[in-house]
Amino acid sequence: MNPASLIPLAEPIPVPWPWFDALLVITFAAHILFMNSMLGSAAIGLVHAFKGKEGLTRDIGQKLPPLLALTINLGVAPLLFLQVNYGQFDYVSSVLMGGWWLCVIPVLILSYYGLYAYKFAYDSMSRPRRLAIFSLSVGGLLYVGFMLSNNMTIMLRPEIWSRYFEGHTAFLNWGDPAIYPRFLHFMVGTVAIGGVFIALLGHWRKQEEYVAIGLTWFIRATIVNIAIGLWFLMALPGNMMLNFMGQTLPATATFVAALASAALMLWAAIRKKTTQTAVWAATTVLFMSFTRHWVRTLYLEPWFRIETTPITHQYGSLYLFIGFLVVGLALIGYMLKLYFKSRGGEA
Ligand code: HEM
Repeated sequence: MNPASLIPLAEPIPVPWPWFDALLVITFAAHILFMNSMLGSAAIGLVHAFKGKEGLTRDIGQKLPPLLALTINLGVAPLLFLQVNYGQFDYVSSVLMGGWWLCVIPVLILSYYGLYAYKFAYDSMSRPRRLAIFSLSVGGLLYVGFMLSNNMTIMLRPEIWSRYFEGHTAFLNWGDPAIYPRFLHFMVGTVAIGGVFIALLGHWRKQEEYVAIGLTWFIRATIVNIAIGLWFLMALPGNMMLNFMGQTLPATATFVAALASAALMLWAAIRKKTTQTAVWAATTVLFMSFTRHWVRTLYLEPWFRIETTPITHQYGSLYLFIGFLVVGLALIGYMLKLYFKSRGGEA
């Protein structure tokens, strides 16, 4: 069977594709920053709790339910932009994952519930019970992340879609050597950014201990992630790696910018400059998100070029969207101002 015959036709889009691609990558970077702060700090908290130092975990536990809500909200935006430009791939991979994909919703709800229980019923639970609930929540969130990595990679490989006709009515991307370093790269990066989040909390509250804990986790996780990133690059299929080593200039430039920014963030952390580390870390996540988008474009090249998607040039909905975005961001800024004012500047 020719895999190309399984790819649905691209639907026409209202405005040129770079609008949606740019919004996809920018909102994805925001989603990942919140996800990292939430899951990364939870993972660090879990390790501390098992070492008998649950004070940090309890403190972080106060922040986790709102951070999870923001992660989910900021996940919706890239999901919509992804479906606009790459829906003919993403819808198929979601269907091929079947029950694995559908389970994301109940698992997410249960994990959310667990984080709420940890925050609000801390004193009424025994320590083993608390830790069991917190561990299950973190485990559930890892499941959600792994399912997203599966979905985002099955969509790039139409050559494996025909497995469905061989009786695999719900499958994951286990056979892909790139998915392991890819998921690990995300998760170790999550711990690193979780460390920055803890360091920032310490910086705002003038708690030196949190700054030291956060930056130590950040530096160690980032050093490990350099090795995993290299493994990921080498696990990419065919000669794709060469595109990031000079063969495709814009892809190489994006990757080099991400690496330069990563070097600056590490340098800032070594010098214990918390705010600078956070700014460079956010910049690195943004550049790495653009690099990841190059990976997607290169994977899809044999099957699809976004430039071929028909455009209807109906700009009304775009103007409406931009209008709501600007007003929405202004309102969020105002709400945050009121929130911090009500807490006397406390994070
Ligand atoms: C709260 C738990 C979540 C975790 C731990 C998580 C983690 C991740 C990870 C690791 C990726 C990258 C996967 C890869 O490329 O290999 C990702 C991508 C993505 N996530 Fe989340 N996610 C969560 C929730 C959500 C939710 C609830 C949504 C949607 C409502 C969502 C929407 C997305 C989208 C659309 C992408 C891909 C965007 C793109 O391809 O540019 N996520 N997420």
